[in-house]
This record gives sequence, structure tokens and C-alpha cells, in this order.
Amino acid sequence: MKILLTGANGQLGTDLQSVFADPGHHDVLAAGRSRLDVAEREQVLAVVGTFAPDLIIHAGAWTAVDACESDPDRAWKVNALGSRHVAEAARAVEAHLLAVSTDYVFDGASTEPYREWDAPNPQSVYGRSKLAGELEVLEGCPGASVVRTAWVCGAHGSNMVKTVLRLAAEHDRLRFVDDQRGCPTFTEDLASMIYRLAVARLPGRFHVTNQGPTTWFGFAQDVLRAAGRDPGMVDPIATDDLKPPRPAPRPANSVLDNAALRLSGIPLLADYHEPLERTVRALVG
Ligand SMILES: NC(=O)c1ccc[n+]([C@@H]2O[C@H](COP(=O)([O-])OP(=O)(O)OC[C@H]3O[C@@H](n4cnc5c(N)ncnc54)[C@H](OP(=O)(O)O)[C@@H]3O)[C@@H](O)[C@H]2O)c1
Repeated sequence: MKILLTGANGQLGTDLQSVFADPGHHDVLAAGRSRLDVAEREQVLAVVGTFAPDLIIHAGAWTAVDACESDPDRAWKVNALGSRHVAEAARAVEAHLLAVSTDYVFDGASTEPYREWDAPNPQSVYGRSKLAGELEVLEGCPGASVVRTAWVCGAHGSNMVKTVLRLAAEHDRLRFVDDQRGCPTFTEDLASMIYRLAVARLPGRFHVTNQGPTTWFGFAQDVLRAAGRDPGMVDPIATDDLKPPRPAPRPANSVLDNAALRLSGIPLLADYHEPLERTVRALVG
């Protein structure tokens, strides 16, 4: 099978490369932004048209959530228009398209985990541009799928696990918010589920996260525990205590019910403590 990955050098893209390369019998074009800028329609149509993939995994996005607030045109161009281009190109070669999206499509006001069928209400430019990208994909390419995930961490790129380990090496005490809840999700596990869903060509929206909701405060403590450090060095704070406040609002509740997986009888990803242990071992030895 011929597979094209967009955003292939990102945090998730790097693990997608491993997962799709592993079975050995796939022809994979792992395209980073320099090879395939999704915002450039002619380039997308040319690269996809020449390679003629059976499957496209669209993980490329402008993910700088706060920077999106000050440069909305770039967010819309990459995340929304870029997804339109990928959908058009996938349709032209009749490839199955799976695009990756985010918990930021929800406002986080619910006290319940969000299902795939709950009404989105994004509060940030990033969230609005990603929701528009979802619609471009689902409406522009028949049979396409969208995988929404949250709180992504892994061995590659920057993420909260690395931030906690770095801050713990530099400071005696750390502060993390205790009023934002979500499910930390590890790229190796997420990439494996994306592989499974994409190869089966399952259409529609899927929420895919590791299991076990926590807060950033709770997660920071878990990271320190996994690294053999004292979790007591973290103090809980409220989002309102962040000085200066972050430009983009974050959902207070980012917990995604993996309902479409669960109701389809597909086993959910493991509790996040398992991949966290693995990742911390890989990072600190
Ligand atoms: N990180 C999270 O917590 C999180 C949570 C929910 C959903 N997601 C979604 O998961 C997917 C993967 O995110 P990630 O965590 O792996 O982020 P990432 O490390 O920032 O990876 C995104 C990749 O997309 C590339 N990219 C940026 N602009 C592009 C363009 N115009 N054309 C093609 N590629 C472009 C980036 O390349 P450059 O670095 O060269 O710009 C980067 O390699 C994204 O769709 C994101 O929205 C992430």
C-alpha cells in the first residue's frame, strides 16, 4: 500500500513514520513541510498526484496555539485551507484520507467527557481553524475520517513531559494548573490506533486518547514520580493565577469519551501511566 504522511517530522508524524514503516510492506512518502506545504494548493495536487497514494494521513498543522491568536490568517491558511487542499488531492486520486484534529474544538464547559457527536464550540483561533479543517476533510473527501486527540506527548518534539523534567532540573518548586482536565496521550499509542483505523478505512470522527483523566498538576506529579523525583515539589494553581494569562483560552474539560471506538468494539488505548513510564525511561534512562 502507498501511504503519504503530512507533517511527517512533527511530534506525532515521527511516530507515524515508525508505525507505517514497521510492517515493511508499505511504500511511505513521509513529507515534512519543506516537501509538502499543505497551504500551497498546486504543490499538494502535484505531490499527491505524482505519488498517487492509497492512503493519506494528514498530521501537518500549525500547532502553536498562542501564536495562532496573533496571526489568525496563518492558522486559517494552514489548518483550514490546507486541509481543503489535502481533501481535494485525496479525492482526485481516490485515496482514503485520515486527518488529525483536537480537543480544542470544544469549549470545555461540560462536566462530562465529550463524545464525537457533541456540538463543538471552539474558543481559540487554533480550535476554530482546526474545526474548519475537519469540515473540509469530511465534506470534501467522501469516506474520510477525523481522529481527535488531546494532550499529546512523546519522545519527539516538545511536550509537557519534557517541560516538567526540564523545569524540575532548574527549580526547587513547580506550579501547574489544577483546573484543566484531560487525558495525556502518547504518540506511539496514538500512531498505532491511527494505523488500525486508517488501514480499515473506517469513516467519520473518532476520539482517540490514552485513558485516565487528570489535571496538568496531577500529570506533572506523575511525570516526577516516573522519573524518581519528589512529586511534592509541585504546587497546584488555578488558570486565573497564570501571570501573564496565556493568549489562547484552553478548555477546562478536555476529556474525550472515545465513544466511537468503544461502541465499535475496538479496544481503547491503555491508561496513560503505562506509556508515561516508557517515555520517561527513554528520556532519562
Ligand atoms: N500537540 C498536541 O497536544 C495536540 C493535541 C491535539 C491534537 N493535535 C493535533 O495532532 C497533529 C500533530 O500534532 P503534533 O503534536 O505532532 O504537532 P507538531 O509537532 O507541531 O507537528 C505538526 C507538523 O506539521 C508541520 N506543518 C506546519 N505547517 C505546515 C504546513 N503548512 N504544511 C505541512 N506541514 C506543516 C510542522 O512542521 P514545522 O515544524 O516545520 O512547522 C510539524 O512538523 C496536529 O494535527 C495537531 O493539531 C496535537
